[in-house]
Amino acid sequence: MFNSIKTTLRQMFLYPINLLKSHMQKTTVSKEKLAQGEGAIIEVNGKKTAVYKNDKGAVTLLSPVCPHLGCLVNWNKKDKVWDCPCHGSRFSKEGKVMKGPAKKNLASENVL
Ligand code: FES
Repeated sequence: MFNSIKTTLRQMFLYPINLLKSHMQKTTVSKEKLAQGEGAIIEVNGKKTAVYKNDKGAVTLLSPVCPHLGCLVNWNKKDKVWDCPCHGSRFSKEGKVMKGPAKKNLASENVL
């Protein structure tokens, strides 16, 4: 219980910093150069987008904005999921909520 309270307090104090950092992260790869089976935050038509390319090359485009309180998610290479740095929500490759506090999925993007 003490660890849970400690984690919650840490997340509360770090939330503004993590929110700002997540929105300032630079995109480092283009959609075309994204490897199959990988995801990344990529600018598509000037808009940051959470892009996942499956093993057959099909691309899923999602809003990177966490529906909990608005931080931008990060691609977790090891577990092949989207993680939110602010309060620990986790989303599948397709943006479905796997772990809260977020209650909604990542929104689909139609930026092409
Ligand atoms: S902003 Fe809170 S879990 Fe994402």
